[in-house]
Amino acid sequence: MDQIRSLQRRLLAQRAQKLLDHPQGMGNYFTFKTAIDILGLDWNAVAPGGIYGVTGPGYFDMGYMANNIGPSKAAIEAFKEASTWDLLRVYPPDCMRDLKTYVANKKFSRELGPDFDVMGVEGAQGGIGYTYLSFLNPGDEVIVTDPGYFHFVPAAEICGAVVVPITLNADNGYRLRPDEVKQKINSRTKMIVVCDPINPFGTVQTRDELLEIAELARNNGLVILNNVTHNTHQTNPNAVQIPMASLHSRETPMDHVISVSGTSKGYGMPALRVGFMAGHPALLRGAFLTKMEITKIHINYPGQFAALAAMHDKEYVQTSTDIIRRNLAHLKETVSKTPGVVMPVEPDYGFCTMIDVSKTGVTAQEVTVGLLNHKVAVIPGDGLGEVGASDYIRLNYSWPRLDCFEAFREGLPKAIAESQEGRYAAAVKAFFEKAGTARGRRIVDLITHRKPNKMLPSCDPTTSPKKASMLRSCKTETPKGKGK
Ligand SMILES: Cc1ncc(COP(=O)(O)O)c(C=O)c1O
Repeated sequence: MDQIRSLQRRLLAQRAQKLLDHPQGMGNYFTFKTAIDILGLDWNAVAPGGIYGVTGPGYFDMGYMANNIGPSKAAIEAFKEASTWDLLRVYPPDCMRDLKTYVANKKFSRELGPDFDVMGVEGAQGGIGYTYLSFLNPGDEVIVTDPGYFHFVPAAEICGAVVVPITLNADNGYRLRPDEVKQKINSRTKMIVVCDPINPFGTVQTRDELLEIAELARNNGLVILNNVTHNTHQTNPNAVQIPMASLHSRETPMDHVISVSGTSKGYGMPALRVGFMAGHPALLRGAFLTKMEITKIHINYPGQFAALAAMHDKEYVQTSTDIIRRNLAHLKETVSKTPGVVMPVEPDYGFCTMIDVSKTGVTAQEVTVGLLNHKVAVIPGDGLGEVGASDYIRLNYSWPRLDCFEAFREGLPKAIAESQEGRYAAAVKAFFEKAGTARGRRIVDLITHRKPNKMLPSCDPTTSPKKASMLRSCKTETPKGKGK
């Protein structure tokens, strides 16, 4: 181990070294994958082929943000039709004209023109990476939400930028509030990340908030990264999501906004790695040149045709939205029935939400292990930020059938009860001790110093002889075991 570290320290560039011990570096934060090892399960039984999703028979995937409904038939047909000798033997153009035009309208609600263009990138993530690389200098400050999407923080830090977090909480409605953004702006600020809908809460910004944030950025010479990748499914029928690019006008120019989106979330095609980055051509040019020097990956033709077909398939989007709404209703019922668990805010768009398990007296990481023990894969909060790192569990609720949500309903109280027995505490601590991050050490301390006798009684009615009284006490007692 020492030898490995010394090799890494000697040869890896500083930017890669930063990731080795980063709390949001993959492998350093806790996921259902950590739970596979803790439970001694066979990886091939849970996530065959080493993929990021859970496809093993009998298991349910509420973990990473793949759209589990999968692609539309029309997209698959288009993909097959475009897999020809002619189309595979050439370097494709950055993005076919038809696709650019459609994406501009459909994803960013704006026309292509002299001041707005779309570039193909390797998923929305490609757009995030190229935006950071093209705009951030060492020492620049980037305003992001905490919690937030895994990569917003480490990706900025490897560019030498400094992340300035804004805590999402009940006071700000789990959204970026312009007055809070304003307070964080100083002479070093370079970028504001407006992820809308917000991963992980699924909340959306209002039109006024977007206009105010855009104005703040404009007046202070800042770039906005507007990531709208979760905006396809209108989960709450009353919610309205507005791409910032669409607010462009003579009075409110949006030339300082870079927008990104992809086809993984809305159209269930993460394997294609098709994404889009849009903005003023003068700025996109910087990103285009960066892309050419680093990966030179233009989206493959079959992927471009599949993306176009998917976006035209209105029925697919309607059907998948119905599924997602149904799932959320089931999930909300489960949360309301499970003592000690709350959903801090209801999602408006997309299919990710957070639950807070802090009132159960155990950590989200222990409950994650317990849930996988009951066949449900989830991701606890430490990969998403410092805030709620051991309280939150993020849930992907796009599974196409209700069996997943039934399993979650049955498994959640059992997972909590097993955690309250202390069954997973040592293994969770061992994981974070090995990861060696400061955030991980805080979770180790939390588990070490909580008093077992002060934990809430088991909330699992199926293992408890005193079901009714226990449920009552779980509902009313405040947790004493978890100081924060
Ligand atoms: C907010 C957000 N942005 C970007 C991505 C990456 O999407 P893609 O697969 O299109 O790269 C994700 C995936 O979870 C996400 O949630």
